[in-house]
Amino acid sequence: MEFFQRRNSALYLEDVALSKIAERVGTPCYVYSRALIEANWRAYDHAFGGKPHSICYAVKANSNLAVLGVLADLGSWFDIVSVGELERVLMAGGRPERVVFSGVAKTHDELERALQVGIHCFDVESIEELQRLSQIAQRLDKVAAIAVRVNPDVDAKTHPYIATGLKETKFGVGFNSAVETYLTAANLPNIEITGIAAHIGSQITEAAPFIEALECMLTLIQQLATQGIEINHLDIGGGLGIRYQDEAPPNPQSLIEAMVKRVHAKRPDLTIYVEPGRSIVGNAGALLTKIEYLKSNDSKHFAVVDAGLNDILRPALYKAWQNIVPATERKETQPREYDVVGPVCETSDLLGSKRRLAVESGDVLVIMDAGAYGHVMSSNYNSRPRPPEVMVDGGQYHVVRRRETINQLLAAESVLPAN
Ligand SMILES: Cc1ncc(COP(=O)(O)O)c(C=O)c1O
Repeated sequence: MEFFQRRNSALYLEDVALSKIAERVGTPCYVYSRALIEANWRAYDHAFGGKPHSICYAVKANSNLAVLGVLADLGSWFDIVSVGELERVLMAGGRPERVVFSGVAKTHDELERALQVGIHCFDVESIEELQRLSQIAQRLDKVAAIAVRVNPDVDAKTHPYIATGLKETKFGVGFNSAVETYLTAANLPNIEITGIAAHIGSQITEAAPFIEALECMLTLIQQLATQGIEINHLDIGGGLGIRYQDEAPPNPQSLIEAMVKRVHAKRPDLTIYVEPGRSIVGNAGALLTKIEYLKSNDSKHFAVVDAGLNDILRPALYKAWQNIVPATERKETQPREYDVVGPVCETSDLLGSKRRLAVESGDVLVIMDAGAYGHVMSSNYNSRPRPPEVMVDGGQYHVVRRRETINQLLAAESVLPAN
């Protein structure tokens, strides 16, 4: 089923015309498809067949409460990286015992709150973090279940800013220090070793790096067994890419099947965790933006739109390519090659270069595949309020986050007191 679909000239998401949302909610505005988020999550679930597994949705990709609520209703687990994300999961109806806590710099307060609510597992990234966690757990009279996040030194062949499994990155514990870290954990009070974790990067479009990281973890699990340390779950992280332009990533079915086969050849009793973010929500969202002006500077044509790099950072941050199409196609207008640019005072505020579009001022453009690392990375740069978020559900749509107001932007600030 096509969730984004053109009916005559109008682009629909499920059964709602995107031009209607733009008109009623205004632009810029994020839109998400409930049905596609559910379908993407279920694709992972089916891929495991009856094998024991947990799909821990990576909240960082899109943390809107409605998105989390839809996933919680499906029985999803959650991978969080901050106490803010934890509170979101709880508020959306997620269960604390289905939460895995990743992140390289968990603070004292974050560890304490997560222990208090009783999360499932901490993916620890250093011996100091283990020691801090043990101290807090003793004080609270709790036991902290842990997995050590191992850095397998695997090249995920992705953009360098989102490659996290190379040994020179800050993430995880080096392969050669992993056993020592587990031995330390085994001797710390109020710490219970339950698993092993890795996450090698994001927007990975080949299976090979995942398999390489997996083999590395299976080797470690065997080494740990010889030291009397038993691992019950193996968390292979997230990172599966989506098709933005012409990428051809493996689908969850083939990737998971390949991984399950390898794991079960060695340890059929292991529970496998995955932490997908982008591949659950990425293609289920889009950003609607209106053309404010068309202008030409000597040789170049520009479509100046009302969304900027503060609303959608990926093009500026990673030089990422995202498809841009009109919400309503024009038959009578001649197409031209445009640079689609935003209002922010940076030359990098280029949302798409050399796009062939048949458009007029006032038209709505749809920036596709914006459901992951879109709104969550938005900011107030240039004092621009962040855009609203809308979830489409069949023939209905719901505003699931209102547009920020200038008053909200200024509310936490003040001028100096008078002398
Ligand atoms: C620890 C961890 N797990 C899961 C993810 C989700 O990755 P993705 O959205 O590429 O699936 C990330 C994101 O980088 C991460 O850091």
